[in-house]
Amino acid sequence: MDTIRADFPILHQKVYDKPYVYLDNGATTQKPKVVIEAVKNFYEQTNSNIHRGVHLLSEKSTEQYEQARSMVAEFIHANSTNEIIFTKGTTDSINLVAFSFGEKYIVANDEIIVSEMEHHSNIVPWQMLCERKQAKLKVLPFDDNGELCIEKLDELITKRTKLIAVTHVSNSLGTVNPIAEIVKIAHAKGVKVLVDGAQAIQHTAIDVQALDCDFYVFSGHKIYAETGIGVLYGKEKLLNEMPPYQGGGDMIKEVTFEKTTYSDLPLKFEAGTNNYVAAISLGEAINYVQAIGIETIAAHENKLVQYASHKLGTIDGLRIYGTATNKVSVISFLVDNIHHYDMGMMLDKMGIAVRTGSHCTQPVMAHFDITGTVRASFAFYNTKEEIDRLYDGIIRIKKIFA
Ligand code: ALA
Repeated sequence: MDTIRADFPILHQKVYDKPYVYLDNGATTQKPKVVIEAVKNFYEQTNSNIHRGVHLLSEKSTEQYEQARSMVAEFIHANSTNEIIFTKGTTDSINLVAFSFGEKYIVANDEIIVSEMEHHSNIVPWQMLCERKQAKLKVLPFDDNGELCIEKLDELITKRTKLIAVTHVSNSLGTVNPIAEIVKIAHAKGVKVLVDGAQAIQHTAIDVQALDCDFYVFSGHKIYAETGIGVLYGKEKLLNEMPPYQGGGDMIKEVTFEKTTYSDLPLKFEAGTNNYVAAISLGEAINYVQAIGIETIAAHENKLVQYASHKLGTIDGLRIYGTATNKVSVISFLVDNIHHYDMGMMLDKMGIAVRTGSHCTQPVMAHFDITGTVRASFAFYNTKEEIDRLYDGIIRIKKIFA
């Protein structure tokens, strides 16, 4: 653990003169030195725009960018690099699909299903699409443990259903959803499935072919890479059928004022200068994760979440939201009648960073009739001692409020 923590410079500082405890990994993860140094070295030695220059550094940049794409394809077991589109992040990937898939396949009275536990980024783009096309948004509910009511899916799907958009892991409850099962039910009725993997990619091995999902999206910054890069995985046949999302450089074959023809995959969906440096940092981050092993990471994080559930569960008046059998990385809670913001701000003064509020999942809060929770979210560099610090902090705050 000491060796791993040594890889993350930001963890070794004091805030308010207290050793820093970073438990907001669901919002973003910290970056290992190899990623930070790769970015610095790239700017000092290689930087040139991709796919454009005949000069050496441009070729090197292009090579590294495309290598990052290959690494992503391999990491999630895509069939081909044509299925990996670099975007700005999860939200951008979902908007791309909502626009492009929507243009091609959605007509008035069609239906799109989202789950009740979606992040706003996996609700709003579909709502906007439904408004544009006079289609209907339907909701798959979850129960009070935070588990999706899969048994309701069959009756929710009708002849008009075109797509289900569902999160792999809930950012506010930690639930791991049974994606392969959802895909099976959907595909039996000819319905496509988009999976939001923003909170899964850093915690569990992803095999898009085994899941058989049609789209899988995630952000680089949640898996130890820079911000500003995301991935859209889509089945090649579907991506080929879908129209471009944005027009511009790099996504064209030939432009005349009469007609433009588009690049083949994956560039058809990558208009303009993409954030190639962040893409390269994602390749480095994947390398780093693979060197440690995603199974090793998952095992450690699993122990952390179990330890935290048990330890915080002993606090009188503390309620954990999200008690699914299969959950990772997240403990959402409230204590007595202490407001989540008060708890978050007081923990901060003790050097402990957590997230408070609705976590961009207002429908989840509405389900429990609350305005927000305190969320501790873990990464593999967190320790039991840090959870003990969180526990001690909560006890102190409880005493102050008493
Ligand atoms: N979606 C990120 C979170 O859950 C920002 O905190």
